[in-house]
Amino acid sequence: MSLPAEATVFAPSTSDRDHLSVLHPTTDLPALRRDGPLVIERGRGIRVWDEHGREYIEGMAGLWCTALGYGVEELAEAAAEQIRKLSFSHLFAGRSHEPAVALAEKLREIGPVENAKAFFGTSGSDANDTQVKLVWYYNNALGRPEKKKIISRRRGYHGVSLAAGSMTGLPPFHQSFDLPLPQFRHVTCPHHYREAEPGETEAEFTARLAAELDDLIRAEGPGTVAAFIAEPVLGAGGVVVPPEGYYPAIQKVLDEHDVLLIDDEVICGFGRLGTPFGAEAMDMTPDTASVAKALSSAYLPISAVLVPDEMVDVFVEAGERWGVFGHGFTYTGHPVCAAVALKALELMEERDLFAHAARAGSYFQAGLRRFADHPLVGEVRGKGLLGACELVADKRTGEAFPMERGAGAYCMERCLDQALILRALGDTVAFCPPLIVTESDIDEILERFGRGLDETLAWVEAGGGAS
Ligand SMILES: Cc1ncc(COP(=O)(O)O)c(C=O)c1O
Repeated sequence: MSLPAEATVFAPSTSDRDHLSVLHPTTDLPALRRDGPLVIERGRGIRVWDEHGREYIEGMAGLWCTALGYGVEELAEAAAEQIRKLSFSHLFAGRSHEPAVALAEKLREIGPVENAKAFFGTSGSDANDTQVKLVWYYNNALGRPEKKKIISRRRGYHGVSLAAGSMTGLPPFHQSFDLPLPQFRHVTCPHHYREAEPGETEAEFTARLAAELDDLIRAEGPGTVAAFIAEPVLGAGGVVVPPEGYYPAIQKVLDEHDVLLIDDEVICGFGRLGTPFGAEAMDMTPDTASVAKALSSAYLPISAVLVPDEMVDVFVEAGERWGVFGHGFTYTGHPVCAAVALKALELMEERDLFAHAARAGSYFQAGLRRFADHPLVGEVRGKGLLGACELVADKRTGEAFPMERGAGAYCMERCLDQALILRALGDTVAFCPPLIVTESDIDEILERFGRGLDETLAWVEAGGGAS
């Protein structure tokens, strides 16, 4: 039977189809089943639009990654051009191609590790898994097969694959996934506001954390500890800026025990903290580094592990004994991803984006700190274009809300009502706008946040979320 011409045929929405067919990453699954997804359809500059045509400011640069913002024609063109020329070739068994070489050269020139070669992947997680495998391979090659343990910080985030997930120090990423694996250890998060003893100064706190690390390495046996991994500023664990002098103090301990420092620049790299890389901003001198996200401004998935020549020389020497270096992905150095990343770095240079981000970052930090007086805000923190406000039940004592009250999530939702996308990390509301934000964009972001925060205060005062 054919339908009359005027009959309306309802096509299922993207939301409905999502419900049926997508398993979402890092999501409150029962809440998603109740509320459905937010379907984003297009983006331009620092803004995105949902399936109903509603416009939002993307205050999180997607997942801390769209540095150049959305809709950059030159990046679309770079991808199209490379797809037309050579859509795929690999780097296995001695093959090579120009986009991967040119990108590796660029990273060698600007990256946070001197004289480094690049090993490419497609995500921050695989980069950090590669880090672990390279350190293990390195120590085996040097004839110290016991030196394998990796230390990271509680609340650090390094990804979700088996080794990266083990280094991540956040309970949901371990719980019921049988992580961390046995060779991984965690130390205190360098968050003075939450972790300091009463009356402890930042310098005393730093000294205590360095002593904790030293004690742990001694207790495990320095001959069993291979590396320490750190984000210069912790991102997903709540935007934590370690105290001044923290990294030099940590690094002294690592040097003493011949433990490598792995720098996870997946969020902090490429101008986020007001310097080209986070290591510089935070006074770190890493042995190796992981980069991803802003490397291609998230136009295509690509990551890189930056490994110094001396380490690679050890791998080459080991190859004489062991044969093939057996680590690599089909998409290691994917030519289209590499061409797009190269173009993204070229645009950052042309547009002097790191200097712009440094200026915008100072303006943003000053603006954000105005919320320090707000009754709900326990601490304002951040560096460059990375920031956060931690919401508390008692501003004077810093007492947190009970987790189940969901104050951070409520605030994030009210900001969404204000057409501003932010992210709640527990009760810490995080900001990470694209690096192209202007001062007037920042004013708009902070005004919208202010309204969302005031609504959250009214809700708290009315007993919202309390059982
Ligand atoms: C510091 C850091 N390292 C690693 C990762 C993992 O990256 P991916 O999600 O691309 O695997 C992230 C992701 O947010 C990150 O913030």
